[in-house]
Amino acid sequence: MTHWNDWPKWTGDEVFRTPRFQFTCSVKDYSLKTNQNEIALLKNREFLELYRDRVFTDPVRKIFELGFFQGGMPLFLADMVAPEKIVAIDWYAPSQELLDLIKANELESSVKLFGNIDQGDTKKIRSILDESFGDEPVDLMIDDCSHFYAQTKASFQAAFGYLKPGGKYIIEDWGWTHWPGHPWQSPESPFGESSSMSNLIFELIMALASASGVVAGVDVVNPACVIVTRGAGLAHKEPLDLARITNVAGNRRARLIEAAEAPPPPGLLSRLRAKLG
Ligand SMILES: C[S@@+](CC[C@H](N)C(=O)[O-])C[C@H]1O[C@@H](n2cnc3c(N)ncnc32)[C@H](O)[C@@H]1O
Repeated sequence: MTHWNDWPKWTGDEVFRTPRFQFTCSVKDYSLKTNQNEIALLKNREFLELYRDRVFTDPVRKIFELGFFQGGMPLFLADMVAPEKIVAIDWYAPSQELLDLIKANELESSVKLFGNIDQGDTKKIRSILDESFGDEPVDLMIDDCSHFYAQTKASFQAAFGYLKPGGKYIIEDWGWTHWPGHPWQSPESPFGESSSMSNLIFELIMALASASGVVAGVDVVNPACVIVTRGAGLAHKEPLDLARITNVAGNRRARLIEAAEAPPPPGLLSRLRAKLG
């Protein structure tokens, strides 16, 4: 395993090297492309250091990533952590340049990319996990994919049981509903009117309080990162149903997502309009 004290070596705010690879990183430039000379990664230095300090303090051998983009994270981790296997999905197919780079570095048996997969397709997600890891539990899962509530929750519930007890499931960029400024607070927000991801975080916290043997930890690290720890109270590969494991003391309205998705009470909008003149 590469020593995190020595690597990566930063040569600019958005440029760094690992022993084998050169990376360009950004949190917003989706036009970045991986080629033979450099690898595109959509994370900044602060986020990579958060992974170093909060996630890779324990050995990690098997990793599943949702949303590989240009392959930045699988190749970064292949060099920094040398996992036995990192499997990743995206709804775009990996580019030929990316596949060539994996081959040229003899990483074909440890880095497996599955394109044309929707993270909300739970049947496919589960069959990729079965095919890739067999009966071996996964150490770490990273969701940096659609950031939409429904798809993120669907793949979380489908995949969480494949983690080992104590394994971590990271959900990135969960807080977009609340991030200040443009475009997040404008009609141009890429997430438009879709259901807030924050509801999933609330649901995870309610599940933790209800069944901490299953959802053993919910660490809201910052506005773009939550780390969920799997407990031992779930059978290996068992699909998770957050609503089923959550107690609400008979109070149906305690299910925040229902409250969030319910239409406003009758008359509320006209009363508001009248009040605003
Ligand atoms: C923020 S980028 C991922 C960045 C990457 N993890 C990295 O660190 O460089 C999000 C990726 O998720 C993919 N994506 C978005 N919605 C998806 C969905 N519903 N299913 C699968 N992939 C999706 C996009 O194609 C994009 O490559």
